[in-house]
Amino acid sequence: MSEAIKKIAINTGGGDAPGLNAVIHGVVYAARGLGWKVVGIREGYDGMLEPERFQDGGLVELHRSTVREISHLGGTILGTTNRGNPFRRVVAQSDGSTREVDCSDELLQRFHQNHIDALIAVGGDGSLTIADRMHRKGLRVVGVPKTIDNDLESTTLTFGFNTAVSFATDCIDRLHSTALSHRRIMVVEVMGRYAGWIALHAGLAGRADAILIPEIPYSIEAVAAHLTRKHVDGKPYSIVVVAEGAKPSGGDVTVKSREAGRAERLGGIGEVVAAQLQEVTGKESRSIVLGHLLRGGSPTAMDRNLGVTFGAGAVYALSKGMDGVMVALKPPRLDFVPLSEAVAKLKLIPPDSEFVLAARILDISFGD
Ligand code: F6P
Repeated sequence: MSEAIKKIAINTGGGDAPGLNAVIHGVVYAARGLGWKVVGIREGYDGMLEPERFQDGGLVELHRSTVREISHLGGTILGTTNRGNPFRRVVAQSDGSTREVDCSDELLQRFHQNHIDALIAVGGDGSLTIADRMHRKGLRVVGVPKTIDNDLESTTLTFGFNTAVSFATDCIDRLHSTALSHRRIMVVEVMGRYAGWIALHAGLAGRADAILIPEIPYSIEAVAAHLTRKHVDGKPYSIVVVAEGAKPSGGDVTVKSREAGRAERLGGIGEVVAAQLQEVTGKESRSIVLGHLLRGGSPTAMDRNLGVTFGAGAVYALSKGMDGVMVALKPPRLDFVPLSEAVAKLKLIPPDSEFVLAARILDISFGD
């Protein structure tokens, strides 16, 4: 129960996502409000397993003053890694080769040695799978979902997604004028791994002519016919948004590289699609890859607010004795309501809404 907690740790694992610092901000403010100490683990679990690698130690004490000014910053002040699986840690051998070892017992021991009562693990599916396994070994854990890809089943939204989509949309907006001037097909490849959320949302917002996503395998002939019809109808250029994980019917994803112990790196499908569309339509085509630009920059207001709310929510979960859970956002889906009902009442913010509570935890006054 909450009385037993005196000190918690937070780590960020996997690819960075805009909003990570907002989570850290939310965690520290909420925990300090309960009188708990907070330490940040550098670079996933590396700060715990290899503290000597870090100039000022692998654990960093987090105070309100440390995190007050970080919510608007991209990246993570703790650093991150996607090579840090403690169950499959890659260690160098004296002969120069490497082997994988399970360091999870040692990691658990280090949590005890550092008197850390619980961990808030901020990550995507890889990091949360590790967090779940550590929880099963006895570590008290609450997860916070993070990924620009928005591909975690149990939450409607992950922070980082909105920033990535906003940036991608801005890029697509900019491509319209150059595509029109040259009467070209512009193919924009966006990240997202095996899900098409970023492509779908940015393509929709950016008025793309075609959106290719992993969930709907495409036929290049069908895409070309669609674009040609629009050309004939008077729109002389096209914008095609392609998710990096998109694949043709009966085909597979385009892989950039494969490395032992790491997830395969997707990429290159935009170039392939552009070349094929040029060949089939006879229209000049160009491709552009937005790549890691989607992960950079300042988080949008939405991602900052989601981040601090998730962070404060994780502390709340621990304070209520929850363990082995992930904070999730679950608003309802699109619904249809009678018009009379829709306008009958002004929608006001409930005083106990998540975002109001998060603002209070951040020491923001509503004047009451
Ligand atoms: O999961 C986030 C993500 O940015 C994916 O969209 C992308 O496929 C992958 O990470 C890229 O990873 P890395 O930073 O290792 O290149």
